Amino acid sequence: MSYGTIANRQDFQTALELTEEDKRLLVVWCHATWCGECKQIKPTIDAMTQELGEDRSVYWFKMNIEEATAVCDEYGISDTPVFMIFRSGDFLPETKVMGMATERLKREIQKLLPENAKFEPSPSSAELVQMTPETKTVLITGCSAGGLGDGLAESFRDKGYHVFATARTPSKISKSLTEAPNVTILTLDVLSSEAIAAAVENVTKITGGKLDVLVNNSGTLMVMPGLDISIEEAKKTFDTNFWAYLAMIQAFAPLLIKVNGAIVNNTSASGVVPFGSFMSVYNSSKAAAILGSETWRLELAPLGVRTLTLVTTGVKSNSFANLELPKIPEGSYYRGLQGYIEEQSDGRLQANGITGKQFGDRVVREVERGTTGKFWVGGGAASARYGVKLLPGWLMDMLLASLFPYAKLLKQQANSKE
Ligand SMILES: NC(=O)c1ccc[n+]([C@@H]2O[C@H](COP(=O)([O-])OP(=O)(O)OC[C@H]3O[C@@H](n4cnc5c(N)ncnc54)[C@H](OP(=O)(O)O)[C@@H]3O)[C@@H](O)[C@H]2O)c1
Repeated sequence: MSYGTIANRQDFQTALELTEEDKRLLVVWCHATWCGECKQIKPTIDAMTQELGEDRSVYWFKMNIEEATAVCDEYGISDTPVFMIFRSGDFLPETKVMGMATERLKREIQKLLPENAKFEPSPSSAELVQMTPETKTVLITGCSAGGLGDGLAESFRDKGYHVFATARTPSKISKSLTEAPNVTILTLDVLSSEAIAAAVENVTKITGGKLDVLVNNSGTLMVMPGLDISIEEAKKTFDTNFWAYLAMIQAFAPLLIKVNGAIVNNTSASGVVPFGSFMSVYNSSKAAAILGSETWRLELAPLGVRTLTLVTTGVKSNSFANLELPKIPEGSYYRGLQGYIEEQSDGRLQANGITGKQFGDRVVREVERGTTGKFWVGGGAASARYGVKLLPGWLMDMLLASLFPYAKLLKQQANSKE
């Protein structure tokens, strides 16, 4: 008889090997919550089940223990190997309750196993959420490895928070987060209202309906001369960089208000100065996020929620590697700058940036201090902040023209044609 947890393809393979002699049935037993983790694993297991053919049957249960027991009874499969999918994201809130739930689970499973079999959770069972009512919780959007969300999640994790590290593609989240006991991985595309609602439900189940910190971090770049921009595409940038922030705040407000929590909105220094080359849409989406964040700060303060607006400067990340290289259309006034734009999009803007972890540590420190309002953070943040304050407009224009010399290049190209 075999029993244990299944968290990935390898575990599933092991489970099959363990039950090799019993060709009848393998029960994959899941919890009531249809969590991101399960959603991620199910397609893999479905695909593997297909590969197995007629030889083996795999039962997939999405139900609570009473329902599962009833189904087992109904199908007369109570002597079947039982495998559960349970990792951190889909269980009950507090350690005490969890302990009881685990004990009960063991008892129920014991009933399904032959008398001499013992329930011994495999090591990954230790990944169950260890949470007391005092444990601080944080949810962060856009935690793909190598980005700022990744750094933030690591810093909050190291500070002892229970971290809900979310991403639209959870497989992009680093192993050091997925394997941490105080991290729950959730699938969350911030453009999907259903996904946001599911995240609220999952967090509510695990924390008992509270959230101490919400970090709106996910974001997307857009590089294209204003004259050549597709307005439809441009709106999508605003959807991610501005509207999704508000949607997340609306959805999580009750959980934050309950504990006088905090909101952190990751905006950009590009929302203050027209930084970069041909980044008008990104820059203005970040400007909207800054003013939105600062206004929500005033609106939420009377409800007991603090808001921190990160005016972020250079931090090393994948954003330029992820950027689909802009193709300047035929007939554009800027067509001759294709090579220049490609060069500018090679990540050089982050060359002097701090690391994601350094960024995360600084942000966590401010959250812990209870800082509200704008906080400049990143490589060269102090000079950027004071430069913006002190430099007259004409000098700032000169500085930007020297950093992003496309006007000069265009002029040279025009002259050489004459
Ligand atoms: N790096 C800097 O120097 C810098 C400076 C100023 C501001 N920022 C801001 O910092 C934040 C993080 O950026 P980054 O530099 O770390 O870039 P990144 O490595 O590209 O990370 C962006 C993250 O946002 C996620 N994301 C995009 N669309 C999403 C959606 N619809 N739903 C959920 N997640 C989504 C990405 O997911 P995928 O991996 O699936 O695409 C990724 O996890 C952004 O808001 C950015 O504007 C960065």
